[in-house]
Amino acid sequence: MVGCGLMGGGIAQVCAQSGYAVLVSEINEELLRRGLAGITASLDRAVRKERIGAADRDAAVARIKGTTDTGDFADRDLVIEAAIEDLDIKKRIFGELDKACPENALLATNTSCLSVTEMARATGRPDKVLGLHFFNPVPAMKLLEVIRTAATSQTTLETGKRFGESLGKTLVIVQDTPGFITNRLACPQILNAIRMVESGLATREDIDTAMTLGLNFPMGPLALADFIGLDTVLSIANGIYERLREPQYAAPGLLKEMVAEGRLGRKTGRGFYEYS
Ligand SMILES: NC(=O)c1ccc[n+]([C@@H]2O[C@H](COP(=O)([O-])OP(=O)(O)OC[C@H]3O[C@@H](n4cnc5c(N)ncnc54)[C@H](O)[C@@H]3O)[C@@H](O)[C@H]2O)c1
Repeated sequence: MVGCGLMGGGIAQVCAQSGYAVLVSEINEELLRRGLAGITASLDRAVRKERIGAADRDAAVARIKGTTDTGDFADRDLVIEAAIEDLDIKKRIFGELDKACPENALLATNTSCLSVTEMARATGRPDKVLGLHFFNPVPAMKLLEVIRTAATSQTTLETGKRFGESLGKTLVIVQDTPGFITNRLACPQILNAIRMVESGLATREDIDTAMTLGLNFPMGPLALADFIGLDTVLSIANGIYERLREPQYAAPGLLKEMVAEGRLGRKTGRGFYEYS
């Protein structure tokens, strides 16, 4: 794993629980220590909730090692990048991985909406590059979107699929396209809900109630936006809009204002709703 934040930590945990030897990298020792502590804390929670036994936790922890040196990926078969959602940073990481990893290693990205093709172009092995898009929280969420570019080989796709299945995930396959399936469809709905609040057409509670009780959604779009993080919603919307230029992906002013004010949803205690 490259990156041991929210997603990298979750993916590393699930891989280790599935029996893989995992190496996670971070940009410095402090972030690495914090990331690894986050994985241990998550496994401890799973033990407390009796989802796994203490011996499983210990075995998973023992399978995870950390590094701050990309060169240490020299013996890896598959590297999944889960650094921040910035194409230049991701392209740089893919260039570094291409130099460090064995010729046959597959390189994957967990990007939410950026171009997997662009990342593949930063390497000399575009046939071995694919997207493996996990969902938060990774141990609980069943879906894995597998993204193929025009250059991804059939062997790479099949190996990626087998790997995802070995983690217990249900797979969907999609061409490299902005937002893939999930974010491409969920993003306009969230943005439309925000536009409805912005123009006073309905209250936040009524919008979410309509979608949960009327359409059987497990969570209304505004509660979902708070859960994802409004900064993440904004970056996904901007990322898709920049490439498709469709007005439905243009971020509403209210979303931009809330992000500028630091009202990011659950993680800051305030978004469309208040959290204590
Ligand atoms: N948060 C979500 O719900 C979600 C869901 C699916 C996909 N994603 C995608 O996953 C990726 C990571 O998102 P996140 O929410 O985990 O972000 P995060 O900020 O929690 O974690 C990113 C981590 O990557 C590290 N990092 C940055 N550059 C690095 C480098 N060169 N080498 C090693 N580590 C580096 C950062 O220090 C940070 O700890 C993004 O591309 C995001 O779009 C996020």
